[in-house]
Amino acid sequence: MDALTTITTRASPLKLGEPGPSPAQVRTLLEAAIRAPDHGKLKPWRFLVVEGAGRDRLGDLWVEGLRRREPAAPEVMLQREREKPLRAPLIIVVIARIVRDNAKVPAIEQIGSAASAAQNLQLAAHAMGFGCLWRTGATAYDPVVKAGLGVAAEDEIIGFMYVGSIAAAGPLRPLAVEDYAAPWPAAS
Ligand SMILES: Cc1cc2nc3c(=O)[nH]c(=O)nc-3n(C[C@H](O)[C@H](O)[C@H](O)COP(=O)(O)O)c2cc1C
Repeated sequence: MDALTTITTRASPLKLGEPGPSPAQVRTLLEAAIRAPDHGKLKPWRFLVVEGAGRDRLGDLWVEGLRRREPAAPEVMLQREREKPLRAPLIIVVIARIVRDNAKVPAIEQIGSAASAAQNLQLAAHAMGFGCLWRTGATAYDPVVKAGLGVAAEDEIIGFMYVGSIAAAGPLRPLAVEDYAAPWPAAS
């Protein structure tokens, strides 16, 4: 698939399944991710690769976070949270490692750079025939979850990238460039 086709045909999958990427394919995904643009050579991204039983550990951590956020959460809700990481054979956690006091590269640029890495990864997965769904939610901002993953308080979880074979493809949403882009200055 050429690069433009990859970009313009990407859609988030509705359902993922086995098999996930091989170790060599995971490496390729990460190689694509670290080609993201980066102001100041800060390389403000880190990745955690979660597979197999690691997903159970991640589920337990998410439950810990949910318990803190919602102490009255019923068991059915906790169980659903515990099982969420099992929705894909592979989850790559994309983290923005932020240098807060950099005079030239403010935090927003570092976050943008790490988000570009996440998008590179998502597009690479698509180019390789896998599906990739970008998720965050309250879990991504939960201090318990961040600490459990070894993410410093001043850093940010950019996304939990769910990767696997496509069990149910998502729709390619209709989009019109005119809705989002305009010449400037506007014609009078
Ligand atoms: C930063 C970020 C966080 C997201 N978090 C979630 C999420 O937690 N749950 C979800 O269903 N979709 C989430 N999405 C949206 C999906 O990943 C997806 O982009 C959206 O459903 C649109 O589908 P499309 O990618 O096929 O256009 C998130 C997207 C971004 C960029």
